[in-house]
Parts: sequence; structure tokens; C-alpha cells
Amino acid sequence: MGTITVRNLADDVKQKLRERAAARGVSMEEEARDILGKSVLSAGAAAAPEGETLYATIRSLVEPHGGFDIALPRRSQSAANRMTLSAKRILLIIGGGIAAYKSLDLIRRLRKRGASVRVVMTSAAQEFVTTLSAGALSADHVFTDLFDRNDEHDVGHIRLSRDADLLVVAPATADLMAKLANGHANDLASTVLLATDKKVLMAPAMNPRMWSHPATRRNRATMQKDGIAFVGPAKGEMAESNEAGEGRMAEPLEIVAAIEAMLDEKPKPLAGRRIIVTSGPTHEPIDPVRYIANRSSGKQGHAIAAALAKLGADVRLVSGPVNIADPAGVKTTHVETAVEMKDAVESLLPADAAVFVAAVADWRTANASGEKIKKVAGKGPPALQMVENPDILASIGHHAQRPGLVVGFAAETQDLIGNAEAKLRKKGADFIVANDVSHASGIGPSGVMGGDRNKVRIVSRTGVEEWPEMGKDEVAARLAALIAERLQATVV
Ligand SMILES: Cc1cc2nc3c(=O)[nH]c(=O)nc-3n(C[C@H](O)[C@H](O)[C@H](O)COP(=O)(O)O)c2cc1C
Repeated sequence: MGTITVRNLADDVKQKLRERAAARGVSMEEEARDILGKSVLSAGAAAAPEGETLYATIRSLVEPHGGFDIALPRRSQSAANRMTLSAKRILLIIGGGIAAYKSLDLIRRLRKRGASVRVVMTSAAQEFVTTLSAGALSADHVFTDLFDRNDEHDVGHIRLSRDADLLVVAPATADLMAKLANGHANDLASTVLLATDKKVLMAPAMNPRMWSHPATRRNRATMQKDGIAFVGPAKGEMAESNEAGEGRMAEPLEIVAAIEAMLDEKPKPLAGRRIIVTSGPTHEPIDPVRYIANRSSGKQGHAIAAALAKLGADVRLVSGPVNIADPAGVKTTHVETAVEMKDAVESLLPADAAVFVAAVADWRTANASGEKIKKVAGKGPPALQMVENPDILASIGHHAQRPGLVVGFAAETQDLIGNAEAKLRKKGADFIVANDVSHASGIGPSGVMGGDRNKVRIVSRTGVEEWPEMGKDEVAARLAALIAERLQATVV
């Protein structure tokens, strides 16, 4: 089921397919699969072409005057199309959540990178997307039933779990998480997960209340201890109407990046190194509903944590409140205030390096109210008394257990270099990554803080190195390489 034999198509359809495939530089089979995959995705999972034959569907899609004439991008050698997963075998387990439709796109993206994808679907997953869609996109049989005699004879649940380089659960439902955390094996998906000797990556997706439930938190912590990796979930709008919060499945490209990182077997320069990274803003409460914050999005800090993990470091991220997903392969602690961030960082010592990217509030209110402050007519606004927050960079820079390499960030609107040099000396850092957040920088405060680009200078005792403006991921990769270079000079 789901495989496409171009030979069986009518001649006129075959000719049209040949022309389209040649224009994009792909095989006719790949073109047919892409057209079908795109039509399934754009039509929505519920409207998958069930009941029609694959061939009739393809005919309706490629016929010049009949069906939809779907335009697909010309194949390029862009990063998205590099064969980064060539010959890798992924077993994708699709759980029963609304985000299952995104897993169809995930299959397509993994195959474009050279991976072969075998799919297991839970019975709940089949309420959301069809085996026909998953089969067409993976070009393979889709496995659904633990007690299917044919499947058990041909492949078997044990081989299914071992004949893969990586198991990916997307969406990982609260139910699948609970099953694996507690060792249940009462359907094909949970049995395969329990029987595997391979790495497992989970991409959870669920209602924010389900995600924040103590039972789900406990299950996640148990699985993390068992060595299971997680990507996401992110904060944002949920597919259900009027729901927002943490629980949205990571985007397919984020899941692909996590898979690439987990399957990357090249020797890694930061293997065996523990690195602490802080990221995001802090929220300093005024009362239970109001707080003082800043514009930091956490994008740069999270990208640095991910880039260090990619080089093999054991990264411990301490994140303030942000709306982005925890980076894959990184152990993340979530905090709200500067005081909580300092405690979390200290509890993670000793470490080989620490990178302080978080925009920590300099002050907090001394008189935060336990109750919501009421607006009283004629009384005027409340007077907020501010006290200084602990200086996390300075305290770790001068700590008895100071990491071998301490990197600070400085966001300044004036005298960038002068301020960064002063910070370097005062705080005991090895280098400061300085960004100009003034409007004169060309990116501007709301660009650097919240945007996707950054322009930094590396200020150290030996001088100032100016880096050109680039994406935050590129800044992160370059900084991770610099940290690896510095640490390589140190004996483990
Ligand atoms: C419309 C609808 C949407 C659902 N979405 C989710 C979801 O996003 N995440 C989740 O954990 N469960 C979700 N559920 C509940 C699961 O489908 C249910 O727990 C099911 O037993 C999961 O089975 P599985 O883990 O075997 O796939 C949803 C249920 C319905 C009816």
C-alpha cells in the first residue's frame, strides 16, 4: 500500500509527470510522491484521498486541465536539500494528537535529506491522519497492529524497533509518554519503544494543561533520566480554538535538526565538557499578576545552547520565561527571577564553561505585593521600591568553583566597547560578546532583542574582534567553535 509504480499510470499522465520531474531534476516517482504529499497536506489530513486509488489521485493532480496543477519548488542544493541523513533509518511513531498532520510533513522532509522512514501509527493517530497518507509519503507499509500476523511474520515488532538508527515519537501524546515512563507495552507503539536498543527522540504535543500536569512533568523527568531526548514543546497558539500556552509540537524543521544532531557521528570537539548557558529575560514580580521584564526573546541564548550541544557538550541551559521550545539535546531548567537564575546556575557548578546570555534584570521590586495591587481612585500609582539583583556573571566570574571559561554578553546603547571592556575586568569574564542595541546599529533594540539577526564584537584582553551581521544561529555556531577552540587548549 502507498507505493507508487509510475509504470501503471496512463501514457498522457506519465508524459506530464516526466516533464514536471525533469523541470525539477527529480525522479518521476519522487515527483509523484511530492505531488501527492503536497495535496494531502494542503487539503488537510481529514481530506486525504482515501477510497480513491493512488493512480486516480495522481492523474487528477497532474492532468493539465483537470485537477490542481500543483507547483513544487525547483530542486536546489540549499541546506534544506542536503543529504544530511543519507542512509539513516528512522522509525517514526505517530501518536493520536492534532499535531499528527505535521508528522506527514516531517516524513517528507526526512526523506528529502536521504533518510528512509518507517511509520508506526497508534490507533488514536489514525483518527487524525490516514495510513494512506503516511504510506504514500514514506513509500513504505505503515505498521499499526501488534497482533497483525502478516506484519509479525514479515518484520516483527522486535525487528521494527532494532532495524532503525533512531526512534522518533511525533506527536508524543501524554498517553504515550505515560506508557513509556512506566514501562507499558500494550500496543505496537509502546511495545516497540520498550523493546528498542536505539536512541529515542520525543516531540511532545498536547494541551497546555496536560503538559503542565504534575503527572506529565514526572513522566518527562523519568524519561530524561532514562536517556530519552526531547525536542519542544513550544509556547504558542494551539490547534484547538482559544487555547494558548506551552504544549505546541516543535516544527518539523526543528525536529529534523534534532534528529540530525542525534545521528551525527563525527568526533565532537566538546564531548565530555559541561557548559552552562543562561538565556531569555527574567521576570521580577510587582504583584501576582504584574512583573518587570525586558525584550529578550531567548533566541540567541537558546541557539548558543543548541550549537554547543551540536559540538558534543553536555549543555545545561537555565532559561527565563520565553516563548520558544527548549533546544533538543540540552537539559533545560526554567526560572522566572534573577535570584532563581543565580541559584540554578550555582547548583550546576562545577562546569568547564559558562555563557551568560540572559538579559537579567538589574533590579527587582523590594516590596512585591502578595495580593494584586488595586487601583484606588484618588490614591495615585503605587510607589515601587527597587533593590539590586545579584550580578550572576560577576559572582560566577569570581566564584571558588569558577568554570575554566566564562563568557558574558553586553547589550549597550552607547560606548559599546568601553562598557564591554569595563565589564570584562569587573566581572572576571574571559570575553564579552558585545551587541549594539542602539538604533544606530542598523538592527535596533527590537531587532537584536526578539529578531533573528545579530551583529556582535568579541571583546577580550587581547583586543576586539568585529563579526559581520548574521543570523543568530550563525553567531551561535561561530561562538560555539570559538569556545571549543579555547577549551581545547585546556586539558580535560
Ligand atoms: C480532538 C482530539 C485531540 C487530541 N489531541 C491530543 C494532543 O494533542 N495530545 C495528546 O496528548 N492527546 C490528545 N488527545 C487525546 C489522545 O488522542 C488520547 O489520549 C489517546 O488515547 C492517545 O492515544 P495514543 O497515545 O495511543 O496515540 C486528543 C483527543 C482528541 C479527541
